[in-house]
Amino acid sequence: MAAIKTAIPTRRFDAVIVGAGGSGMRASLQLAEAGLNVAVLSKVFPTRSHTVAAQGGIGASLGNMSEDDWYWHMFDTVKGGDYLGDQDAIEFMCREAPKVVYELEHFGMPFDRNPDGTIYQRPFGGHTANFGEKPVQRACAAADRTGHALLHTLYQRNVRARTHFFVEWMAIDIIRDAEGDVVGVVALEMETGECMILEAKTTIFATGGAGRIFAASTNAFINTGDGMGMAARAGLPLQDMEFWQFHPTGVSGAGVLITEGVRGEGGILINSNGERFMERYAPTLKDLAPRDFVSRSMDQEIKEGRGCGPNKDHVLLDLRHIGAETIAKRLPSILEIGHKFANVDATKEPIPVVPTIHYQMGGIPTNIYGQVVTPAGDGSQKIVNGLYAIGECACVSVHGANRLGTNSLLDLVVFGRAAGNHVVQSNLKARSNKALPKDAADFAMERMNRLETSTGSEKVQGVANDIRATMQKYCGVFRTDELLTQGVKEIMVLDERRKHVSFKDKSKVFNTARVEALELDNLIETAKATIVSAQARKESRGAHAHSDYQQRDDEVWMKHTLWHSEGNRLEYKAVVTKPLTVDTFKPKARTF
Ligand code: FUM
Repeated sequence: MAAIKTAIPTRRFDAVIVGAGGSGMRASLQLAEAGLNVAVLSKVFPTRSHTVAAQGGIGASLGNMSEDDWYWHMFDTVKGGDYLGDQDAIEFMCREAPKVVYELEHFGMPFDRNPDGTIYQRPFGGHTANFGEKPVQRACAAADRTGHALLHTLYQRNVRARTHFFVEWMAIDIIRDAEGDVVGVVALEMETGECMILEAKTTIFATGGAGRIFAASTNAFINTGDGMGMAARAGLPLQDMEFWQFHPTGVSGAGVLITEGVRGEGGILINSNGERFMERYAPTLKDLAPRDFVSRSMDQEIKEGRGCGPNKDHVLLDLRHIGAETIAKRLPSILEIGHKFANVDATKEPIPVVPTIHYQMGGIPTNIYGQVVTPAGDGSQKIVNGLYAIGECACVSVHGANRLGTNSLLDLVVFGRAAGNHVVQSNLKARSNKALPKDAADFAMERMNRLETSTGSEKVQGVANDIRATMQKYCGVFRTDELLTQGVKEIMVLDERRKHVSFKDKSKVFNTARVEALELDNLIETAKATIVSAQARKESRGAHAHSDYQQRDDEVWMKHTLWHSEGNRLEYKAVVTKPLTVDTFKPKARTF
């Protein structure tokens, strides 16, 4: 309950990483092993970062179960993303995938095994052999706890490499000098309420997504878009924020994730007639079509009156035929989640599920080394010196308009590693820190002080809940001009209300309340970016399903959106259709 001070101490590092999930800890490992002085800040204990919730697997064309090829993986990723992904970055990621997975194996990650000792791989949505011909088993799995296994492995390696962890610290804002270079962050220690400047030659954002801008979400409560909020306030654009993935199988009413691995192991979706309806929508891939496709099909079933339960508002995920033994071996957490959140024994009854917000395809624009880039005005891109972004908060863009399942964990380790390597190769150790501007902490401290002194009548959770309800209502699975236009208006009203939040009793403010108030500023930036970008895009592509414009429009809309907080304005940039070494995959109709 300490009051906020204005004069604040400074600590100096080679690199500061904000976020200790899969991408942050993969980058920090690279830096710490190279002998750099690296600090990792995390709002939670590192192994509680949201990566821990990833269940089904990490994608890599190891070919352990049947023939596979990185080029097929690349095709699936480009097509899955509805041709909006940058093909140079996608080629890079899919080529790197086997290497980073074997590296994790050698770090000690406890993957499931085949009888011959190789890593077990399961089928997943949109993963195919021979350019869409038939499903392939590409998801490298540690039961249904792959993210948990990955995060613990990386944490242990980081402890060994002597990474400095600042646990329960929240970054408030970045510090840019007069040249626009990033020279560190101002951060809050949640236990004491003390603020500190962490000076750094390189700052890496690995802050995860903003799934908590929606009411029904598979995301952890910590996913409040902190990196995007800080970037937006520092004058940087956010890219492709209109694209939000609904995971087909969130537990109805609870939002908790049921892995696509359930369908990979043979589970099927059924409607109130007991029909396996995905056979009608996706005759080849059926229940394993990409997520945007399956989510819309489920919504269609519900809209047409074939939903289940007293309100006919969900469908059922049936895994009874998989058998209790396989469920216990391959899907133990799902059994537990079924019990705890749906009150069903999944070996005997199907689980009620609905499409639930899961992942943002957009984020802070970067190149394939994780360097943050902004448009230079002449069609080229300018690098923001000293700032990198990796993982879900970044948009490189490998996921285009819709991510393939298992490409999220892959993205974390491929680009976490690439950013780490790039920083090490930039000879950071030999360089000295740039001078801190005199007013380095002023902006962040003004935000802290505004909270302490505000006499406004708004309460943080009231505004946050209204943001979530508004985004859910106006920016859901199916969007219309009318809904989006009204949604933009309501979010702008909430942005005003947000400026008037205050604490009820100023003599007794818990630091957790300060953290929630700071998070609110990040939630609103991300919500504005999302709904303003969505309102402008007059087509349907990937996860952006627009009922008034039901077709993809490559002529006009084959471009990335860039949203700027200042002036709430949009600009666009070209999609990179040329891969690094292979031929371009040209846009085609997406059938599965
Ligand atoms: O369904 C899942 O296990 C989620 C995986 C992912 O989002 O990549």
